[in-house]
Amino acid sequence: MAAAGKLSFIAIMVLIASISLSVSADPDMLQDFCVADVNNAVKMNGFACLPSFTASDFFFAGLAKPGLTNNSLGSAVTPANVMQIPGLNTLGVSMARIEFAPSGLNPPHTHPRASEILFVLYGQLDVGFITTTNVLVTKTIYQGQIFTFPKGLVHFQQNNGNVPAAAISGLNSHNPGVQVIAKSLFAATPPVPDNVLATAFQIDTQEVHEIKSKLAQ
Ligand SMILES: *[C@@H]1O[C@H](CO)[C@@H](O)[C@H](O)[C@H]1NC(C)=O
Repeated sequence: MAAAGKLSFIAIMVLIASISLSVSADPDMLQDFCVADVNNAVKMNGFACLPSFTASDFFFAGLAKPGLTNNSLGSAVTPANVMQIPGLNTLGVSMARIEFAPSGLNPPHTHPRASEILFVLYGQLDVGFITTTNVLVTKTIYQGQIFTFPKGLVHFQQNNGNVPAAAISGLNSHNPGVQVIAKSLFAATPPVPDNVLATAFQIDTQEVHEIKSKLAQ
């Protein structure tokens, strides 16, 4: 009887542990912080902790000014994650600043490890995400307003106003990751085979070549 009681106690503890694992985005902290040793050749699930730190490990000025939007997309993303701020390692949060020229697009992409909450600094944005059942959830948002992009779902933002726009994003991972759909498929190294893309998009190989050559620039 005592043994059975002990077993069910263990079973309950395992259940509680697995529930808490399944609802947390990044692992819970086991120390005050862990300033990332981003240059260490030894990689694990996250970065190792540096033995010492300074205040600058927790600091980044890169979101203070607008990014340059004179590119083919008319947009610029400035990340502020563990790569820019090593002190974010294990904290489970990060930010980004996104700049948009008129008609500028932050093209369809996903963050495999984070949900995103986006605040419009100035201007207006047409934003949207696509659910796993291919429903487009979209809205036009203006200065001071917020939109949310659930973890892992394909999403985009475009400035359809006639003046520049900018936004600040918060993300619930110190290393959210990003896959830009067009570049992932048409600008991978080595390349995704032409016939995979031709069949997937129901286009001919010539069109695949044209897209690949444009995205390679
Ligand atoms: C974008 O503008 C900056 C600053 O005006 C300039 O230095 C840079 O060369 C430009 N880039 C392109 C791709 O035109």
